[in-house]
Amino acid sequence: MDRLPGFRDFLPAPVAQKDLWEFEARDYLFSKWRRVASAYGFREYDGPPLEPLELLTKKSGEEIVGQLYHFEDKGNRKVALRPEMTPTLARMIAANERQYKKPIKWFSIPQLFRYERKQKGRLREHFQLNADIVGETGEGADAELIALLIDVLRSVGLTAEDFVIRLSSREAWQQYLASHPEFRGDDYGFFQVVDKLERMPEEVADARLREFGLSLASIQEFIGAGTPTPALQQVLDNLGARGLDAFVKVDYGIIRGLAYYTGIVFEAFDRRGEFRAIAGGGRYDQLIQLVSDGKTDLPALGFGMGDVVLLELLRSRQLLPEWDSRLDVYCLLEDQNRQADLLGLLQWLRDQGIRADASLTSIKPNKQFRQAADLGARFVATPQGEGGLVRLKDLHLRDEQVLSRDDLLAELRRRLKES
Ligand code: HAM
Repeated sequence: MDRLPGFRDFLPAPVAQKDLWEFEARDYLFSKWRRVASAYGFREYDGPPLEPLELLTKKSGEEIVGQLYHFEDKGNRKVALRPEMTPTLARMIAANERQYKKPIKWFSIPQLFRYERKQKGRLREHFQLNADIVGETGEGADAELIALLIDVLRSVGLTAEDFVIRLSSREAWQQYLASHPEFRGDDYGFFQVVDKLERMPEEVADARLREFGLSLASIQEFIGAGTPTPALQQVLDNLGARGLDAFVKVDYGIIRGLAYYTGIVFEAFDRRGEFRAIAGGGRYDQLIQLVSDGKTDLPALGFGMGDVVLLELLRSRQLLPEWDSRLDVYCLLEDQNRQADLLGLLQWLRDQGIRADASLTSIKPNKQFRQAADLGARFVATPQGEGGLVRLKDLHLRDEQVLSRDDLLAELRRRLKES
């Protein structure tokens, strides 16, 4: 039976086919995400993958709502798999914020589900690093988040030549609309068109914009000028002081598809423009109030970075490390009477943090040797005579010595460290 389209199998590397994913690659990314987010003082949280349908339809916008996996559970509740983390975070914050000093800096690595059309870089299930700051209105928070986003991408070996963060502002767009009295229609409908402009032929774009009383030429002029709002200028200055200005540019071509954003918004792209957005986010100062029916009113901002595009980008730039799946020590049994010694040695090595393995059944020594080679073992250890002595064979240096347990451990650690 096949897996569902748009879903992934993660297998231990190396994987046999192009459409399979390496578990190690995902694990590598998660550990980088965790390390950098922690270095920025973000605390990890998680929530349920299934939520009340209503939470997820409240203010995300039509596009994401159209992609929901939703159904009625056995208690007749309308539920959906989370397509994004932000509504869950807003719900959790609204219920628990009193326990936490502001600003709250939290991150999470949820698995998300969206019934997407089949396209490059978009699947029906993905993981996302979410980092959000709650309870801070100042631009210092926007800059802090963008710095985190930059440092996460730098931590996996990407440079200012590989990616750029395109910074924009819904306020700037709102001012543009206010200064164009010919504009008609609703702001969010218009934002959705701007969000897709780059993927539309010019005639289609112009026709769509004329429905709002505007023209493509006027929009292009506004985007081309790219004059930063005072808030954006503060973010740019803040990032400049951190030495991170080479990673960002003001670009009003970005507006974000989700409905809840209120202020500065941004997206990260590869510079060559080969891939879909690597990450996206912005300020959503009213969502928590909306989700809590007005009970909690806290400003918030954040971003989501998916694993799909990022792994594709790292693979194409050959920036993924080689996975070390090798074994340190294979414990080999020569004499059946020493089975208990072998198990004792195996257990002790594992207790010391050495990656050790042995055959699960009794097989001939030459077969055990082959197994050691198949597992990529560096050493073969064989219990010897009385007194807990062990014969240690180094398969790289091709030497052999008989050692006590203490000497064995010291020798293993020394040689493993050197390699
Ligand atoms: P989003 O732009 O919908 O934002 O998603 C953020 C990132 O997740 C995208 O840039 C992309 O890397 C990845 N992504 C989204 N959909 C898919 C998909 N179907 N397949 C693979 N990757 C995907 C949000 O989700 C916001 N909730 C982010 C946020 C957090 N805003 C504030 N806080």
